[in-house]
Amino acid sequence: MRKAVIIGAGMTPVGEHWKLGLRDLAVEALLNAMDDAGIDRVDSLYVGNMVSGPFVEQENLGALIADWAGLGNIPAVKIEAACASGGAAVQEGVKAVLSGLEDVVAVVGVEKMTDAWPSDATRYLAYAADAEWELFHGASFVALNALVMRYYMKTYGYTEEDLALFAVNAHANGAKNPYAMFKRPIKVETVLKSPYVADPLKLFDASPVSDGAASVIITTPEKAKELGVPKEKWVEVAGMGRAIDTISLASREDLLSLKAAKVAAERAYRMAGVEAKDIDFFEVHDAFTVMAALSLEALGAAKKGEGAKLAKEGQIAIDADYPIQTMGGLKARGHPVGATGVYQTVEAVLQLRGEAPSQVPDAEIGLTQNIGGTGSNITVNVFRRV
Ligand code: COA
Repeated sequence: MRKAVIIGAGMTPVGEHWKLGLRDLAVEALLNAMDDAGIDRVDSLYVGNMVSGPFVEQENLGALIADWAGLGNIPAVKIEAACASGGAAVQEGVKAVLSGLEDVVAVVGVEKMTDAWPSDATRYLAYAADAEWELFHGASFVALNALVMRYYMKTYGYTEEDLALFAVNAHANGAKNPYAMFKRPIKVETVLKSPYVADPLKLFDASPVSDGAASVIITTPEKAKELGVPKEKWVEVAGMGRAIDTISLASREDLLSLKAAKVAAERAYRMAGVEAKDIDFFEVHDAFTVMAALSLEALGAAKKGEGAKLAKEGQIAIDADYPIQTMGGLKARGHPVGATGVYQTVEAVLQLRGEAPSQVPDAEIGLTQNIGGTGSNITVNVFRRV
């Protein structure tokens, strides 16, 4: 079977880019990735994007971005899986390379969210929930996650303070990342004193509404050699998994289990021939602090109910056993929804090349986990240093 390696990675800073359009952000990240790989053409383009229609009244992103980047008449298409669109786009790009249909593939994740009014942004994000069974009744994404957070705390005896540790860890790492939206360390008190958005979920338990784009270039080791890309730049895509769960939260068998992440991780681990204990860092989807805890459990890094215990024991820091959010996570790097899975991929590449601003010592294998909806569509990818 063919192998897939990432040979180029690029991104824009995450933030409020009021002077740049969606196509500007996407093309900047794409050209950065192509420059990094030292190439000037690709066979195809996969765009991870969740909700550009409502946010910026633009669809057909494949054509928009490939045309603006001057890539010629290549195949280019948008991949949508809610907030997991970026992770899914990376997987579609890898599949194209592994199938042998395409040799050099570009993946771009992009989202432009901050031009919308906050109330509109909240509504558009909630399109990833169940329109008839949740939105119709007034549930927002923040509200649904607040329900999970309350139930997690009640079931296992955790406090708001315990979950705040995930935000503190994210900001500590984000402070060193020049591309992060929030570059300042915070304390537990910062989280506890921040206003409630939906009790018990506070402003600092949530990832921000953000703009940004990230991109990777994928090919085979043989083609990478032919293109003259130095081996130090290669990072292998060793495993991939993707799974869905019920779209509405109320239909879940177990509210406190990210079953789609568990199934996706099992597939990715099997393909890569690794286990959770082999993973050197976990880029988990910490859109809300409770999601970081549940993700660690679903990925096998912690037992059920013990995700937050890892944070309490100081195990999620860069130099601890289970480093997470190594460049700020969604909380501090920012969460331009459809771009996030590609940002996580770029960050994994930097870690495995030894080029990350907060470097996990001797990182050899890294994992990215990207959640769509409140756990309804999840991708897990495993990367290995070559
Ligand atoms: N963490 C820390 N600070 C934040 C923040 C966050 N998540 N979101 C906004 N801020 C800051 C802003 O920088 C701003 O600071 P300033 O006054 O110093 O400039 C201040 O808080 C107000 O920002 P604003 O943009 O007006 O916030 P808001 O009240 O409109 O939005 C949330 C706050 C939490 C409602 C919004 O960020 C949100 O909806 N987050 C969740 C997004 C989401 O659901 N994503 C999909 C998940 S899968």
